[in-house]
Amino acid sequence: MTPARVTADHNPLRDPRDKRLPRIAGPCSMVMFGVTGDLARKKLMPAVYDLANRGLLPPGFSLVGFARRDWEDQDFGKIVYESVKEHARTPFREDVWRTLAEGIRFVPGAFDDDAAFDLLAATVADLEEQRGTGGNVAFYLSIPPGSFATVCQQLERSGLSTPSEGSWRRVVIEKPFGHDLESARELNDIVGSVFPADAVFRIDHYLGKETVQNILAVRFANMMFEPVWNNRYVDHVQITMAEDIGIGGRAGYYDGIGAARDVIQNHLLQLMALTAMEEPVSFDAHHLRLEKEKVLSAVRLPEDLSTGTARGQYAAGWQGGEEVVGYLEEDGVAAGSGTETYAAVRLDVDTRRWAGVPFYLRTGKRLGKRVTEIAVVFRRAPHLPFTDTATEELGQNAVVIRVQPDEGVTLRFGAKVPGAQMEVRDVSMDFGYGRSFTESSPEAYERLILDVLLGEPPLFPRHEEVELSWRILDPIEEHWGRRGGDPDQYEAGTWGPPSADELMRRDGREWRLP
Ligand code: BG6
Repeated sequence: MTPARVTADHNPLRDPRDKRLPRIAGPCSMVMFGVTGDLARKKLMPAVYDLANRGLLPPGFSLVGFARRDWEDQDFGKIVYESVKEHARTPFREDVWRTLAEGIRFVPGAFDDDAAFDLLAATVADLEEQRGTGGNVAFYLSIPPGSFATVCQQLERSGLSTPSEGSWRRVVIEKPFGHDLESARELNDIVGSVFPADAVFRIDHYLGKETVQNILAVRFANMMFEPVWNNRYVDHVQITMAEDIGIGGRAGYYDGIGAARDVIQNHLLQLMALTAMEEPVSFDAHHLRLEKEKVLSAVRLPEDLSTGTARGQYAAGWQGGEEVVGYLEEDGVAAGSGTETYAAVRLDVDTRRWAGVPFYLRTGKRLGKRVTEIAVVFRRAPHLPFTDTATEELGQNAVVIRVQPDEGVTLRFGAKVPGAQMEVRDVSMDFGYGRSFTESSPEAYERLILDVLLGEPPLFPRHEEVELSWRILDPIEEHWGRRGGDPDQYEAGTWGPPSADELMRRDGREWRLP
């Protein structure tokens, strides 16, 4: 046998396709809009620091903040410093911070202020010269969608959206991508009129989570799951994203939006698509998105939306030993608001693989505990060669992908209870990230920001997926609107309104207690 030739171009030890190698961003800068917001303070700025700390940012990396504040560079630097100190995942290192701080700039101004954007353009040009950012800029729009149009137009007018030869300009947008199909299209047209499709990075931060990417690893790197991942063996799938927190200070965004638009339209439908999709030809953006889109196109809504969906709103109750107020008493919520803080829906996927297997999606605030999981629940064995009493306490087999917290995967199956008698009960086998790996998981935003700077799109949904998701949600929202009436109340700290349990009971099933 001839040994494999190792040449400079093809050294298996240095194969550029080797996905295990650390990926370090090339020369670039990031301009952040919305730096006074919660997301920037709690997630984005700390993620930038964590990337710097892991050595994944280029030496001249620069961060420019833009906001309507009378700040100098140092004032903004102090804001970033405080947010890093409070929220960064990795330990604070003075030398890393000092290097990062050298590239921090601030441009004061309103979104409709031409002069401010001209100053921003000059700042970006200075950074290219002083710090070697190569003219590569990512614009992060952590702002309400109502301001997207103005900012995009300003970026175009000031020339900021146009890269010079050999450099790139990208734009990052955060959900909500509209509040229905029509507004999503309008938004897309606005962004698309300024940036080419491959320069637009839509963030669904769930896709940046390790455990969500692990869905694909579990399914497609193994032999034992895929053969049973279909309607011959699977009874139904439950996708839960439960939060114990209320809406906190976010009434301005949340009231009038509600749980379905906030979470089902994006995070939960993405989780469902990854769980149900066929094996992609590769993990390239094009192939991944194609398979996810096929699932979303095959989704069928319940014929009767009154019984196939449920919505609720939290009332006062107890959580973690503390008394908490109901949604209507939260600061900033409109009097008598009919916004749902809990939503559940049954969806079917009309494909050969999934025909007859319902996917139940639920999400809510102020529920029993914080947990996100995907439970693939299997049919019962067609025959049990035991006496009835031996299997009385045997449930259904399940594969549970625990997205958070306590990240991992659980298999549930029946095993013999020790003793001379024959009795079978459920047991579980657990894989936990904390126990199996020494590496810690990066925050979703670290991964996603790095991918933006590297120009790698697989983890970013494209507009088609956003459209397909609104096509699923719009009829539900319309139905709720038409039916009128307020969402059912549920006590804070419980698992949602009785109508959600009823939805399952009607199908002869029940929600898991995670
Ligand atoms: C956001 C929603 O997208 O996700 C919030 O707008 C929600 O309402 C948040 O609280 C939850 O994110 P995570 O990563 O904590 O599960």
